[in-house]
Amino acid sequence: MMDLKAKIESLKEEALAKVAASENLDVLNQVRVAYLGKKGPLTEVLRGMKDLSAEERPKVGALANVVRDEITTMLEEKKTTLEMKKINEALANEAIDVTLPGSYVSVGQPHVLTQIIEEIEDLFIGMGYEVIEGPEVEEDRYNFEMMNLPKDHPARDMQDTFYITEEILLRTHTSPVQARTMEKHDFTKGPLKMISPGRVYRRDSDDATHSHQFHQIEGLVIDKNITMSDLKGTLEVFAKQLFGADREIRLRPSYFPFTEPSVEVDVSCFKCGGAGCNVCKHTGWIEILGAGVVHPNVLEMAGIDSSVYGGFAFGMGPDRVAMLKYGIDDIRHFYQNDVRFLNQFKVKE
Ligand code: PHE
Repeated sequence: MMDLKAKIESLKEEALAKVAASENLDVLNQVRVAYLGKKGPLTEVLRGMKDLSAEERPKVGALANVVRDEITTMLEEKKTTLEMKKINEALANEAIDVTLPGSYVSVGQPHVLTQIIEEIEDLFIGMGYEVIEGPEVEEDRYNFEMMNLPKDHPARDMQDTFYITEEILLRTHTSPVQARTMEKHDFTKGPLKMISPGRVYRRDSDDATHSHQFHQIEGLVIDKNITMSDLKGTLEVFAKQLFGADREIRLRPSYFPFTEPSVEVDVSCFKCGGAGCNVCKHTGWIEILGAGVVHPNVLEMAGIDSSVYGGFAFGMGPDRVAMLKYGIDDIRHFYQNDVRFLNQFKVKE
């Protein structure tokens, strides 16, 4: 009987020492299985109780239970300690050093011309215009004939053309979108107010100021009682928005077959304010677009009664606008896609 009690006590000491010495959860689990498991020494000892007297049996049994509880408690406490230790180690290992340099993420932005075109679109959308696109491969009919440029018209020479067939060509300007839109417009639903941005093509040799492919933004307003002063007011808003609130515009007489009268529009130089500098070639003015009152022939060919309706049209080159605005000295930069050039035009926040 004494033997058994002493054995239980020494097992307890042994178990508690091993628990205390366990350095991780795996080892601790092995200790638990070894001492409290079905094949463990404590179970073994309890089996030997059958040889004890009826008087001794409950005492030894009680002691064994106390010891089992003590070992269990110690195991649980140690388990909690080891788990905390594991978490703290993980936290220490995974800590982020916020003072380390970050990894570089390259962020792109829309092409500078896209930015300019979108800025101009936003301005005209704000004035109630619709943005309408047309095909780049166009019919001679829309590009020239319906723009009051019949087949033998000498002004066709103003725009050297890439022909695909005799009747199909690469559009030389965005004006054909005028004809396409007028043809379809239902005036019972209100006036026609549109702009049309897009690519155009001309048979030019590429150099610093010429590109065989560039951009235009067409503008067209058709309604009753539209006059030249509506055109002037509209373009004034445009010039101030794009080049600065102090800008003024002036109209000079010009010629386009599809407008009468026709004008060339200049904006006062945004660099020198009109005093004269290298940007405005010492004139104080910069030419930015062509415009005019829509020719009655153009209206009639699109099926619009020119005795009732009239309007104005304008065409500008966003390439040229961007070159002036940012001091870009070669139009070819826009089309070479050199990121060192393109990255200089980050979108405004
Ligand atoms: N289409 C003309 C050009 O390409 C520009 C223009 C458009 C002029 C509309 C007047 C009216 O040169």
